[in-house]
Amino acid sequence: MKEYRFGIVGATGLVGSEFIKVLEQRNPPIKSVKMLASYRSAGKKLFFNHQEYTVEETIPESFDDIDIALFSAGGDTSKHFSPIAAKAGAVVVDNSSAWRMEPDVPLVVPEINPDDIQKHKGIIANPNCSTIQMVVALYPLHKVNPIKRIIVDTYQAVAGTGIRAVEELKTQVVQVLEGKETIPHVYPHQIAFNALPEIGVFLDNGYTKEEWKMVEETRKIMHAPDIAVSATCVRIPVLTGHSEAVHVEFTNVMLPEDARQILSQAPGVKVLDDPVISLYPQAWPCAGTDETFVGRIRQDASNPKGLAMWIVADNLRKGAALNAVQIAEEMIKRDWVRPGGR
Ligand code: A2P
Repeated sequence: MKEYRFGIVGATGLVGSEFIKVLEQRNPPIKSVKMLASYRSAGKKLFFNHQEYTVEETIPESFDDIDIALFSAGGDTSKHFSPIAAKAGAVVVDNSSAWRMEPDVPLVVPEINPDDIQKHKGIIANPNCSTIQMVVALYPLHKVNPIKRIIVDTYQAVAGTGIRAVEELKTQVVQVLEGKETIPHVYPHQIAFNALPEIGVFLDNGYTKEEWKMVEETRKIMHAPDIAVSATCVRIPVLTGHSEAVHVEFTNVMLPEDARQILSQAPGVKVLDDPVISLYPQAWPCAGTDETFVGRIRQDASNPKGLAMWIVADNLRKGAALNAVQIAEEMIKRDWVRPGGR
């Protein structure tokens, strides 16, 4: 079997360490792995399959001997290095938002639009974490009864912001409990014991960048340019695991029991929905898992063709590293790991 040379750009970050875990667990055909980060981490040691690797600074030549480069090192790093990597012959799967809406860059959730991968020209984009879990849960319903409108409110964990945000939350929790003053560095306000309706910069239309990603990316992944989407994205003091309250309007009536039935057979989805025993998806137990969990499925009391539901997933896994590795697996399976998409 053909084996591939993997590179992880941002290997020292939160998503980077999930890349390592997911690759270890899923064991795709790997010939070699290169751990890349910034100059700050050069020389640091990381383990992959019980073997020690030395982190290298990412430089243009880093990509000369890589077939598949998994990037999670921020938009600027991605903008700079992805084209260099693609030119050197690697196929980039990029977790940043840098390339997602470029017309000739596929934006892929393997449960939904795996065929789009084939059109890659060396860069494939991994969608935004909040979008991935929402579309994984909604697309199986959309196929049966086309969705016209989505209203989504998110409750997003700090891990999505990176290591510094996780440290900031932990530090502030202790400071507040000890009656000390907190000084925010990563977020505009204190995140401990708080809820911040600001994720990404504010746009002229009043939405934030994160909210607008949910609008645009949903349409692109689902090939449904007419779906109306309105999102409010909120950062909450949870470490890992994004939760979403979603209100969906369908073309025709969709009964909650039919939605439960469809979702119970949908790839990557697990229905947890029994109010009698307080069974519903929660962020804490979902950390470290691979599924997108759906519960609280009920008729939308304000809309005869609407359903309301609660969707939870590990934002570092299905929302980032797992989805990217699944894209790589799909490319390998279909023999689409071709330099520059040739
Ligand atoms: P480093 O640890 O050397 O700063 P997180 O999102 O969890 O904060 O992680 C961000 C990741 O992106 C880290 O691995 C970080 O490496 C990496 N990174 C940041 N800037 C660069 C850069 N210019 N080149 C390569 N990797 C980078």
